[in-house]
Amino acid sequence: MHFTFVTLFSSLIEGYFSDSILKRAIAKGILDISYLNPRDYSTNKHHKVDDTAVGGGAGMVMNPQPLFDCLDDLQKRDGDVHIVFVTPVAKPFTQNDAKRLATKSHVAFVSGRYEGIDERVIERYADEVFSIGDYILTGGELASLVLCDAISRNVSEVLGNSESLEIESFESELLEAPSFSKPKQYAGLSVVSEYLKGNHSKIRSLKSALSEAKTKFFRPEQLLKHKTRKSYEK
Ligand code: ADE
Repeated sequence: MHFTFVTLFSSLIEGYFSDSILKRAIAKGILDISYLNPRDYSTNKHHKVDDTAVGGGAGMVMNPQPLFDCLDDLQKRDGDVHIVFVTPVAKPFTQNDAKRLATKSHVAFVSGRYEGIDERVIERYADEVFSIGDYILTGGELASLVLCDAISRNVSEVLGNSESLEIESFESELLEAPSFSKPKQYAGLSVVSEYLKGNHSKIRSLKSALSEAKTKFFRPEQLLKHKTRKSYEK
C-alpha cells in the first residue's frame, strides 16, 4: 500500500517511519511512503503558499494555487489515489475508517498549516475529511500520521504474530480488558489472580466483564452503542 503525505514539513513526519513496525513493513515492501511539498508547486516568485484570509480573520490561510497544482500532479501520477484532508472541521476518524481505508491501494493525506486551507481545495479534491479529536493542533502533520498508523496496522502482514489484530479495543465498541506481563508479582502488586489459573473459559468471561466495566467508566456512550447493537443482533 502506498501513502503520500502532502505537507510543507515532511521532516515532521519522516522520523516516525524510521523505527519499529512501520520501518519493517517498508523494508519488506508492504508499505511505501512518499512526500509532496505544495511549496514546490507555487508559481509565486518567493514560493509563497499562504495569504491573509479573504473577509478578515486572524492568521494565514493556505492558497489554492500550490495545492491545486500539487494535487493535479498527484492525480495524474495515480488516478486511483484516495485523497484525505485532516482538519478539526470534520467527522472524527474511527477504527472502522482505518479498516476501510486499509483496503485502498494509495491514500494521500493533505496536512494544512497556518489557520487552514482555502475551502475550494477541499471542495475540489477531498474524497474524505477527518478530524482526530476535539482540539486544535498547530498543523495537520500529526493528524495525518495518526491516520496513517491506524490504517497501516490493518494492512495484511504489517503486524507480525506477536502484534496480532485479534481482540482489540473498538472492534466491538468495547475497550480492551487489562493486560499484564511477567513477573506475576511486581513491587507488591499482583496480576489479576484469575489470569493465573489457566481456566481459559473463566479468563474469557472475566475479561469480558472487565472490558465492560472499563468501557462503562471511560466511555459510557460506547457501552450503550455495544448494547444496542447486541440487542438488534438477537
Ligand atoms: N489539524 C489541526 N487540528 C486537527 C485535528 N484535531 N484533527 C485533524 N487535523 C487537525
